[in-house]
Amino acid sequence: MDWGDASRDLVVHADNLEVLPRIPDGAFTTIYLDPPFNTGRSQKRERLRTVRSTEGKRIGFGGHTYEQIVTGLMAYDDTFADYWSFLFPRLEHAWRLLAEDGTLYLHLDYREVHYAKVALDALFGRECFLNEIIWAYDYGARTTKKWPAKHDTILVYVKDPKRYHFDSAEVDREPYMAPGLVTPEKAARGKLPTDVWWHTIVSPTGKEKTGYPTQKPEGILRRMIAASSRPGDRVADFFAGSGTLGAVAQTLGRRFVCIDASADAVDVMRKRLGDGPTYVALPHPVG
Ligand SMILES: C[S@@+](CC[C@H](N)C(=O)[O-])C[C@H]1O[C@@H](n2cnc3c(N)ncnc32)[C@H](O)[C@@H]1O
Repeated sequence: MDWGDASRDLVVHADNLEVLPRIPDGAFTTIYLDPPFNTGRSQKRERLRTVRSTEGKRIGFGGHTYEQIVTGLMAYDDTFADYWSFLFPRLEHAWRLLAEDGTLYLHLDYREVHYAKVALDALFGRECFLNEIIWAYDYGARTTKKWPAKHDTILVYVKDPKRYHFDSAEVDREPYMAPGLVTPEKAARGKLPTDVWWHTIVSPTGKEKTGYPTQKPEGILRRMIAASSRPGDRVADFFAGSGTLGAVAQTLGRRFVCIDASADAVDVMRKRLGDGPTYVALPHPVG
């Protein structure tokens, strides 16, 4: 397979860790990752390698190296260590695969996000942390025992804080909460979204619904891709599920690579993304 051919969209059915090492450095302008929490099985512990160059090794949170931080986090408890030993090698590849002007969006919930922040600070360098986006939604039961958790967090890191691409003019705008307080022109134009995104989940009856259980709304992916890549750039999702990133990339004219280990996910993506992309399954040789 020719990774230099920017005109091909790809859907790969494989464990992403089998595929990522085959992709050359700097291949993607935007990477979106929405990993599963608690994969339900004990992950094989992989020895941690640092893929970034030793010359460029930055000292992260509290003066510790990335490797020290990861090892420290993994000592926490077994389930946690299994989960993070699964995720860290994939995050290392995400860093390697970002173009110099590229951006990573890592979508997590409140249970994991703080650990991820510490680890990504060490992996990318704290100066590469761009935003913490809160995706707030309102759906499902509300516990009365504590504040009901109705948000996810998306950590945004850039490969190079001096060179990253970000175009706020391409982002959809929001209505003002009090349009009477601004000029009619401003009210008609709407305002730029902040780092708190109110957006409904995928409606169980809407046309976007694929039936894939963890499907994310196109609206939130559209913002990320529109702001952090240009038409023709290549974008990727290593945990693609129903292919939301692919669907958005098709409408915005970006090239995409979607990887998922589940046959159900690939079936859903075939229906959703149609005949345009090339579909590859490993161990089918890639090369
Ligand atoms: C939370 S879902 C992603 C949903 C997706 N954002 C969407 O909008 O449909 C996580 C996905 O990761 C996939 N997955 C889990 N482990 C994987 C692995 N090692 N390699 C590739 N995909 C994996 C699962 O099959 C699942 O589809």
